[in-house]
Amino acid sequence: MTKRILLIVGGGIAAYKALELTRALRKRGHAVRAILTRAGAEFVTPLSLASLTGDKVYQDLFNLTDESEMGHIELSRSADLVVVAPATADLMAKAAHGLAGDLASTTLLATDKPVLMAPAMNVRMWRHAATQRNLAQLKADGVGFVGPGEGEMACGEFGPGRMAEPEAIAQAIDAALGALDAARPLAGLSALVTSGPTHEPIDPVRYIANRSSGKQGHAIAGALAAAGARVTLVSGPVGIPAPSGVQLVSVETAREMLAAAERALPADIAVCAAAVADWRVASDAAQKIKKAGHAPEPLALVENPDILATLSRHPFRRPRLVIGFAAETENVVEYARAKLARKGCDWIVANDVSPGTGIMGGDSNTVHLITAGGEENWAAMPKGEVAQRLVSRIAAEFAGA
Ligand code: CTP
Repeated sequence: MTKRILLIVGGGIAAYKALELTRALRKRGHAVRAILTRAGAEFVTPLSLASLTGDKVYQDLFNLTDESEMGHIELSRSADLVVVAPATADLMAKAAHGLAGDLASTTLLATDKPVLMAPAMNVRMWRHAATQRNLAQLKADGVGFVGPGEGEMACGEFGPGRMAEPEAIAQAIDAALGALDAARPLAGLSALVTSGPTHEPIDPVRYIANRSSGKQGHAIAGALAAAGARVTLVSGPVGIPAPSGVQLVSVETAREMLAAAERALPADIAVCAAAVADWRVASDAAQKIKKAGHAPEPLALVENPDILATLSRHPFRRPRLVIGFAAETENVVEYARAKLARKGCDWIVANDVSPGTGIMGGDSNTVHLITAGGEENWAAMPKGEVAQRLVSRIAAEFAGA
């Protein structure tokens, strides 16, 4: 698959190797977009970089045209990997300290993507305690490094500081991209997650609800997105934010949740973690129900649509993997297995929500994963870990493992 590399070219005699690196990356089928620092432009021309990348070269933080076409924040995130070659002592120092005075350093501070640096500088500059401190800091911050190598330098000195050869940098990029793919096993797949409670109106100020916090469903949506899936999170009213990278659709009632879920199809994966109200008031009052000196009429209830069952039995857009939850207070596994058959889903994540467990609204969960083939009993763990583990199982399923 084509990968997008954002290449930051710093100033230094090694900048000319950035041209060869660009050529090697393009040959591998990657798209390369370049940022050229002011010092870098002393060594290579924007025109030579642009003709090799086949794209415009970004140079100035305050260039209005660039900002209107693509803001620097977007530029910093529009890539799969950010590569700095050559990474000068100055660029390393700026990145280590979080400085953001120009386009290159701002991009390094704003990016949410992995960064790989290929340092190039004079031997003494490389060995200087300040550079070594910055190197250690950047490594601790998760920045990857390739080189520098040892050898005769342009300045006539000998020792470490030579930028790695373009082919070695390209191989380090291959390795970094490979690691990224491994961390995103669901790239290219889409997922729908329902989460939180629903509110079913009684009158304009009152509603029927439940104690669901949305924590487990939201954690699953976040873990699916982190694994590379395109996620639509259909959430009832909750007090927690949507995880980053998911598309949030906020709803109130079960019927709204069903409509939003159906709009999110087709999807490869559906996880119904919402605690949908089974019943709604048959005809909710248009005006607030007043105290009338006697007990009100009993509320007439009608059954809500079952979102999980609807998705599981969808005639032409059934997701390939449909996962439901079962909140039980007794005979957890037995009831959950019956629910699997009744709703027609592939897996059920069952948990015991008896009052003593603290699961409803709490941060931890103890679940059983019920599939057609068997059941797994997971130890008690934070809801974030349940989400991770479920996503690993989903990835294994799609990998055919
Ligand atoms: N669910 C749904 N739509 C509904 C009711 C439930 O999508 N109207 C989904 C939940 O999101 C969950 C699963 O169905 O994934 C099980 O929900 P639960 O309330 O535990 O089961 P019920 O179907 O209500 O069965 P029971 O009340 O007998 O426990």
